Amino acid sequence: MKALGILGSPRKYGNASKMLDAALGELENRGFETEKVYLQSKKINYCIGCGTCLAKGKCVQRDDMDELKTMVEESDVIILASPVYYLNVTAQMKTFIDRMLPYGHRPTLRGKYGGSIVVYAGVGRPEEVAEYLNRVLKAWGVVPVGYAIGFGVIPGDVGDKYISKAQELGDKIANAFEKKLKAEVTEEDIELQKQLLTLIKNYGELMKADYEFWKEKGML
Ligand SMILES: Cc1cc2nc3c(=O)[nH]c(=O)nc-3n(C[C@H](O)[C@H](O)[C@H](O)COP(=O)(O)O)c2cc1C
Repeated sequence: MKALGILGSPRKYGNASKMLDAALGELENRGFETEKVYLQSKKINYCIGCGTCLAKGKCVQRDDMDELKTMVEESDVIILASPVYYLNVTAQMKTFIDRMLPYGHRPTLRGKYGGSIVVYAGVGRPEEVAEYLNRVLKAWGVVPVGYAIGFGVIPGDVGDKYISKAQELGDKIANAFEKKLKAEVTEEDIELQKQLLTLIKNYGELMKADYEFWKEKGML
């Protein structure tokens, strides 16, 4: 049982990092082997929008995303953690998400559980950012179990009450994993899948890998 924490903050020992450690610590207590990835230290190029991953299944770029994709695939639990930067996730986190495009088109990370951690300094609606991250997880096929929000300004000043929330998230993810809970299917999920399938159907010549994936599932 492996749990992977993906840290989108450039501050290695900042608030998101502290909360992620707390969630991973809880998962460790529940028997998971844990690992934290610090995106800032990785070489992750921007997605160039060439669509090769949708057509041929594999990205044309060779960088640390190769290693990260393997780590994600080999994990049972995935937690995305980011501070709020301009009302959204950091560029590091967004760049990582963009490069995960094939998983959004061909959700092969099924059977995994996850959640998100978002810290902010009091400006905006961090819940929206956390919900966005959980929507991303769901698009990949991961069951998003919940999220934890923290408040902090200076690196590492996130208080105990937020650390407890992160621990609760870790606990909740471990429970969901043990009970093999199913993801709740919302109207939005159904609508998003419908829209994705329309896109793939209309651009099947370009998105060959996607087309074959869904055709095999009898969805096209
Ligand atoms: C470029 C930048 C943009 C930010 N934008 C916001 C924001 O929109 N809302 C907010 O509440 N905090 C914002 N913050 C503050 C961080 O979210 C806050 O300091 C957080 O605790 C940082 O987490 P970290 O220690 O994990 O990096 C911003 C910080 C930076 C550097």
